[in-house]
Amino acid sequence: MSIKRQEDVTPAVLEVMRRTRDPRLREIMISLVTHLHGFVRDVGLTEAEFRDATAILNEIGKLASETHNEAVLMAGSLGVSSLVCLLNNGDDGLTETSQSVLGPFWRRNSPLVANGGSIVRSDTAGPPLFVRGRVQDRSGAAIAGAEIDVWHASPIGLYENQDPEQADMNLRGKFISDDDGRFWFRSVMMVGYPIPTNGVVGRLLRAQDRHPYRPAHLHALIFKPGYKVLISQVYDPGDPNIDTDVQFGVTRALIGEFVRHDEAHPDDPEVTAPWRSLDYTYTMEPGEAVLPRPPIK
Ligand SMILES: [Fe+2]
Repeated sequence: MSIKRQEDVTPAVLEVMRRTRDPRLREIMISLVTHLHGFVRDVGLTEAEFRDATAILNEIGKLASETHNEAVLMAGSLGVSSLVCLLNNGDDGLTETSQSVLGPFWRRNSPLVANGGSIVRSDTAGPPLFVRGRVQDRSGAAIAGAEIDVWHASPIGLYENQDPEQADMNLRGKFISDDDGRFWFRSVMMVGYPIPTNGVVGRLLRAQDRHPYRPAHLHALIFKPGYKVLISQVYDPGDPNIDTDVQFGVTRALIGEFVRHDEAHPDDPEVTAPWRSLDYTYTMEPGEAVLPRPPIK
């Protein structure tokens, strides 16, 4: 096919894409070219903008390191991570789901803690938080013996790996659900935190007058053979940024109740008020229990 005018380009490229051997890659490439060419026509992309776009993609790649992933940040900031998560869970997008995105701070070998124990491993000032979780299947039946890995930011918004003041594995721990699917532990109330803004994503946020914050959340990764690994984040509706998460990760199913208590703790007179409690039920879907690759060591 000879190309004479701009409208000849797309059919010429699609003809080549149709020769892709692998059927799934063929499907993806045909759709990608169709949408990409449509986008270029839709906005009437200028030559200068095109050169800027390629420079931006290169810059995103160069910003990748052991501790930073600009591509993941950008995918989150454009809502793509959230869309992919919701399309692939909750009966392929038909129902609500406890699944959320993994984020960049999961570490694989967090220490096992007995139910009722604390994940505060070094002096971490902040309101005490008591978490009671339950793991169930879609019928509501308890899932016993599930491994629940939890991690969260500190009361100043830093994960332990970002903060030399915190002990190794502070605010991280692994629990096993009991016969009723329950697990429980003590920690301190986390706060929301900003994503890094010193790269391409930061420039986008400033151009759109967007703040860089994620609302306060508790991460969990739940493993039990026979079920799809549940990667979850439970959000605090009292956070000022609950409706404007920069990564679009907040869904209705992931809103937790981080209840504030101003009275004395019923079981422990040492606990100073105010303290918080969170009760949350995690629902696992049947599937293969495949652990993700840890984003950091
Ligand atoms: Fe997080």
